Amino acid sequence: MHLPVTNLVFCLLVFQPFVYGQLDYKFYDYTCPNLTKIVRFGLWSAMANDTRIAASLLRMHFHDCISNGCDASILLDETSSFRSEKDAIPNRNSVRGFELIESIKTNVEKVCPNTVSCIDILTLAVREAVFLSGGRYWPLALGRRDGLTANITASNTEIPSPFESLDGIIAKFTAKGLDLKDVVALSGAHTIGFSQCFTFKFRLFNFSGSGAPDPTLDASLATSLQTACPNQDESDTKLVPLDRVTTTRFDNVFFKNLVNNSGVLASDQVLMTDNRTSAMVLNYSKFPFLFAKDFGDSMVKLSNVGAITGQNGQVRNKCNLVN
Ligand code: HEM
Ligand SMILES: *[C@@H]1O[C@H](CO)[C@@H](O)[C@H](O)[C@H]1NC(C)=O
Ligand SMILES: *[C@@H]1O[C@H](CO)[C@@H](O)[C@H](O)[C@H]1NC(C)=O
Ligand SMILES: *[C@@H]1O[C@H](CO)[C@@H](O)[C@H](O)[C@H]1NC(C)=O
Ligand SMILES: *[C@@H]1O[C@H](CO)[C@@H](O)[C@H](O)[C@H]1NC(C)=O
Ligand SMILES: *[C@@H]1O[C@H](CO)[C@@H](O)[C@H](O)[C@H]1NC(C)=O
Ligand SMILES: *[C@@H]1O[C@H](CO)[C@@H](O)[C@H](O)[C@H]1NC(C)=O
Ligand SMILES: *[C@@H]1O[C@H](CO)[C@@H](O)[C@H](O)[C@H]1NC(C)=O
Repeated sequence: MHLPVTNLVFCLLVFQPFVYGQLDYKFYDYTCPNLTKIVRFGLWSAMANDTRIAASLLRMHFHDCISNGCDASILLDETSSFRSEKDAIPNRNSVRGFELIESIKTNVEKVCPNTVSCIDILTLAVREAVFLSGGRYWPLALGRRDGLTANITASNTEIPSPFESLDGIIAKFTAKGLDLKDVVALSGAHTIGFSQCFTFKFRLFNFSGSGAPDPTLDASLATSLQTACPNQDESDTKLVPLDRVTTTRFDNVFFKNLVNNSGVLASDQVLMTDNRTSAMVLNYSKFPFLFAKDFGDSMVKLSNVGAITGQNGQVRNKCNLVN
């Protein structure tokens, strides 16, 4: 049996991404041609039932990538050798959407078994989620591989907190190769989704011992947040929209809100009060197209942070377990 030369060349072309281990726009074109359709349909169906799911996936992806790189480690359940990142402080009782990624993965496995990594599915799902929410599409190179372990310490220390200074947040981004523009553009993700009262309640009643709300919080928004989040511990887990004007629409209204002192999180409003970032906020508040473009560019950068390629890592069979 002799393999014709043309077939050999064809095989080399097909498997080139595996050989060289780089991300590639055509990575699954031969091995899973319907991948994007399957992921898009999964998102579309889920969003019809749960209007928050796009936001939740976007946040899940950020938390996976910013801590220990984009390796789908956030999807892993606890084992005897590592603790689950799902139990990390920024993630527990807060990150959601695990079932959706698992269900899309199951559908992908039916047509392309052992081929598509969980991290590529999550990365594609987030691109579709933003697009289906009214945001702009960005081209995505694929071929990431899934990590073999989780690191709860990384999740506890590398994910920015809403109680942190802008300097602290910038440091966490720059540690991953992301710059000030990425901080501002990516914070625009808070144009969709919800936040629990405890993440901003310190701004509402007695800010810094002043007896009054945070002066950089619009008075009418402060009043409505006080109603939504009464000054008792029981209200801590209640949800309010991060953008009360267009809560499920991926637009630039988040930045318009910041210009109006209507950011919910202190870590968001500071982007308008700090003169290192306020010009960018104003820019994005005026030019939706500029925000859409920069957000896509920054998402591509975020999606490549610490990505595993080539023969490293693995393609998991189930997203919550290493093979
Ligand atoms: C810059 C520093 C950031 C801080 C301090 C921060 C903090 C937070 C907090 C406290 C919440 C509410 C969580 C809860 O109450 O359970 C939240 C929600 C959210 N975050 Fe961020 N975040 C940051 C950056 C980002 C980035 C870069 C993205 C994505 C690119 C993102 C996407 C989201 C989304 C979409 C939600 C809503 C999630 C949902 O409704 O399920 N955040 N963030
Ligand atoms: C891709 O999906 C189309 C229908 O949308 C189907 O006709 C085709 O057979 C699928 N291709 C593969 C390789 O699964
Ligand atoms: C619909 O969304 C809810 C959460 O809002 C979820 O608990 C439920 O499993 C979803 N149902 C389907 C069929 O996806
Ligand atoms: C886990 O993350 C922490 C914090 O980034 C790091 O110091 C530690 O080396 C990591 N552990 C492993 C096993 O990679
Ligand atoms: C606000 O906090 C300050 C300092 O902690 C305290 O002295 C003051 O009594 C508080 N005011 C109210 C109205 O709770
Ligand atoms: C911001 O405030 C201005 C002036 O009060 C108002 O015209 C505008 O509609 C507000 N924008 C948003 C997004 O609420
Ligand atoms: C920001 O303000 C500080 C102090 O108010 C000033 O020293 C600094 O030059 C300003 N930076 C920019 C970029 O405008
Ligand atoms: C605002 O956007 C324009 C492009 O429209 C860009 O040239 C300029 O540098 C931006 N300014 C800031 C502060 O980001």
